[in-house]
Amino acid sequence: MFTQRHLLGIEPLHPVEIAALLDRADHYAEATRRGEKHGDALEGLTQINMFFENSTRTQASFEIAGKRLGADVMNMAMQASSLKKGETLIDTALTLNAMRPDLLVVRHPHSGAVNLLAEKVNCAVLNAGDGRHEHPTQALLDALTIRRAKGRLHRLTVAICGDIAHSRVARSNLILLGKMENRVRLIGPPTLMPSGIGEFGVEVTDDMEEGLKGADVVMMLRLQKERMDGGFIPSEREYYHRFGLDAAKLANAKPDAIVMHPGPMNRGVEIDGTLADDINRSVIQEQVEMGVAVRMAAMDLLAQNLAKAG
Ligand code: NCD
Repeated sequence: MFTQRHLLGIEPLHPVEIAALLDRADHYAEATRRGEKHGDALEGLTQINMFFENSTRTQASFEIAGKRLGADVMNMAMQASSLKKGETLIDTALTLNAMRPDLLVVRHPHSGAVNLLAEKVNCAVLNAGDGRHEHPTQALLDALTIRRAKGRLHRLTVAICGDIAHSRVARSNLILLGKMENRVRLIGPPTLMPSGIGEFGVEVTDDMEEGLKGADVVMMLRLQKERMDGGFIPSEREYYHRFGLDAAKLANAKPDAIVMHPGPMNRGVEIDGTLADDINRSVIQEQVEMGVAVRMAAMDLLAQNLAKAG
């Protein structure tokens, strides 16, 4: 079912593999809810987390996921590492590889860096976000959250709103949602739309009202200020006025539409704080919960493939 050696992106996955991974994640989500937090699927395996970019929830989520399945988990403090002394990414990777890890979880500010690293090591590599390229476990946890809330993951209308251009979350999500035959609408100012986006077979608009009409799912994105070099939006106030999600704008979507955000949130910039906390509409906390389950499933399936490869 799931035949991958690494999880580098959504792009290489077959819809059947996506479904298999989500089924496994559902199993782990339910087990965790029952209080079963000590499995042995990764017993005897070493997991190294290498985060070259700041992260709170993703790193914590991968660490908890590994520990819940019995892995020996180590977090490399990349800010303090030899990279500062001039070592290249590849040298760091080869050094770590010599310590014989089984699972390497990598976040890096440059698109493609994780793929490059995967070519140099013997273990399974999981992409925890590379530049503007992909963030596969985020798209998978979003998919699981949607599937559980809506009862299906096909023929839904999903609006993804905000800073699409700088967002690996948007990119992985639109690939996944397209593979599962959903209708995807991208909403945001033209300055925050990537060029050539038309090729993805999505609808694009800069009008929130029009874009949200009939949506089953409304996914908000953070303004990625750290990836901007100025001049993308007139002001945060103006941005909130036109693109910030509040109850009035949400009224254009279906009455049972769910609200999502990958976090971290800029309250009052891309989303109204009260709406983000409204448990009748917002599934933001479920996304975090499903994140751990999806990462358990991904590492479990990759470890099984490692064992088969011998
Ligand atoms: C996302 C990321 O890092 O790409 N956050 C996350 O993984 N929880 C989105 C973001 O930073 O806005």
